[in-house]
Amino acid sequence: MNKKEFNNVTPAKVISFINMKGGVGKTTLTVNLAYEITEYSNLRVLVIDIDPQFNTTQSLLNHFSKLDIYEELQLKSDTIVKVFEKSNKKKATLSKGEPDNESTLPIQNLNSQLSIIPGDLYLTNEIDSTRADRLRPFLEKNDLLNDFDLVFIDCPPTWSLYSQAALKASDYFVIPSKLDEFSLYGIKILLEKVEDVIDSNKKLSCLGAIYTMISENKAASGINRKQTENKEKIESFFENEAIEEFNIHVKPFRSILTFHNRLSYESVFYELQREKKEAVCQEMQDLRDEFLSKLKIMIKRKKEVDIDGDKNLQLI
Ligand SMILES: Nc1ncnc2c1ncn2[C@@H]1O[C@H](COP(=O)(O)OP(=O)(O)O)[C@@H](O)[C@H]1O
Ligand SMILES: [Mg+2]
Repeated sequence: MNKKEFNNVTPAKVISFINMKGGVGKTTLTVNLAYEITEYSNLRVLVIDIDPQFNTTQSLLNHFSKLDIYEELQLKSDTIVKVFEKSNKKKATLSKGEPDNESTLPIQNLNSQLSIIPGDLYLTNEIDSTRADRLRPFLEKNDLLNDFDLVFIDCPPTWSLYSQAALKASDYFVIPSKLDEFSLYGIKILLEKVEDVIDSNKKLSCLGAIYTMISENKAASGINRKQTENKEKIESFFENEAIEEFNIHVKPFRSILTFHNRLSYESVFYELQREKKEAVCQEMQDLRDEFLSKLKIMIKRKKEVDIDGDKNLQLI
C-alpha cells in the first residue's frame, strides 16, 4: 500500500488520551491509532507511556519484537522516569520546570516512523510539584516537536502529577469512554481537572470523546438501548454543564469502537484481527480517518483564531 503523504505537522501536536476511569480503552486506542497512522501515512508518531501500568509499552515493544530489551531499559532508567528525574549533579543549575539533559534520550525507535518513551512501574508519586512542568520543556529542548508530527500520551486513570504533566504538555486531549452507568463520573472529574490545567496551558482543547467497547447491535445507531441512554446523558453534559461550568467544548467522534471478545484476551492490535474479521480493522481505520480530519480542521481553526485574536474557540 502506498502511504498517504501529509504535510508535516510543525511543531508536532501533543495529544493526551485521558479519562479518570480505568479499563475504558485508553491504551488500546493510543496503541492502535499510533500504529494505524504510521502504517497509513508518512506521519511520524512518538508515543509516551506515562501510565505506571505500562501496557502501551508492553504492547508496542512486543509487537515489534523488542520486549526483551525492556528490563535493561528499566534498569538504566531509559524510560519515562528519566524525563521526570532530578539530576543531582545538575540540580543547582536547573531552573524550575527545566528537564535534565542526559546524554541519551529514553526513546526507542520501533520503526522509521514510530517511537516510544517507555513507561515505568517505578514512576513514583513523589511530592515535587515541579515535575508536572518538565514534560513539555523536555520535548521542546530535545527537538522532539520537530522530529515527530504527533506525540501521543497514554495517561493513567488517576489524577497525579503525571496526568497533570501530560495535560500541561498537550495541545489537545481525547476522552475514550465506555457508555456504562458510571462513565459520566470519570468524564466530569476529568473536566474539573482540565479546567485547572487550562489556567496555565491556555492552548489545551478537546479533540473529542471516543466511545469504546460498545455492544454490537442491529439498531441503526449500532448502540443498544441502555448504552444509548447513557450516551444521551453524557452528550447532554457536553452540551450544557461542560460549556457552562468548565467552558470546555467536547464533541463525540462519529466513529465508535465496538466490543470484540478477541481483543480482550488476544493482542490489542486491531491489525492482527484482519484475517479473522475484516470489520474489526475497519472500525479503527474509520476512526483514524476521522481523527486525522478533525485534527486538521482544529489546527486550521486554531491558526485562524490566533490570527483573529478570537478566544471563543468552538469545536467542529
Ligand atoms: N473493543 C474492545 N473489545 C474488547 N475488549 C477490548 C476492546 N478494547 C479494549 N479491550 C480490552 O479491555 C481492557 C481495557 O482496555 P485498555 O485499553 O487497557 O483500557 P485503559 O487503558 O483505559 O485501562 C483490555 O484488556 C483490552 O484488551
Ligand atoms: Mg491503560
